[in-house]
Amino acid sequence: MLPEVRPLNGALSRQGQPVYSPGEEIFNRGVSGQGRQVAGMEEGDRQHPAPTAPPGRPHGEKLQLLLRRSQEAKHSAYCPYSRFPVGAALLTAGGEIFSGCNVENACYSLGVCAERTAILKAISEGHTSFRAMAIASDMGDNFIVPCGACRQMMREFGTDWDIYLTKADGTYIVKRLEELLPLSFGPEDLKKV
Ligand code: THU
Repeated sequence: MLPEVRPLNGALSRQGQPVYSPGEEIFNRGVSGQGRQVAGMEEGDRQHPAPTAPPGRPHGEKLQLLLRRSQEAKHSAYCPYSRFPVGAALLTAGGEIFSGCNVENACYSLGVCAERTAILKAISEGHTSFRAMAIASDMGDNFIVPCGACRQMMREFGTDWDIYLTKADGTYIVKRLEELLPLSFGPEDLKKV
């Protein structure tokens, strides 16, 4: 029995289980609930038991909430210059979600990405341990990826967490932070001299 979730448009639909490929990527119809074939699966094709998420990874309703919160945050984006809204939702180790959007400025270089807005909100509320982040944009054909500065900002808080990169329709892939920023420099390195 698949869980019922309420997609963004408010209608009820059945949500597919995520499909895990060997490369640790997850494909899903995502939060929009639009039926499509993903990773070789057809609607109603349930010959194999639903895969379970690796330990520590959000799954089920928590994951759907994280994805939805990133899309909702996108609607708050202040991006009059780029017109490229981005939303992010950050899941803490304790299960709380902090969301953020990009905030631009007439002095262009002062603009802040959605990912860093979410991190700054969480840190300033006392949270420093994170499990996952979902990122949303309006791109229909591409998964949104974080910029280099955001990857480094994420890395400050460990390499062992997951980043959900979504398309506008809610489909997503998931990457470990260490995949997005290999050979990274972090706080531990400062102790090595
Ligand atoms: N942006 C983000 O907020 N996150 C990303 O992952 C990529 C880019 C923002 C920065 C800027 O406000 C706009 O998107 C265009 O670069």
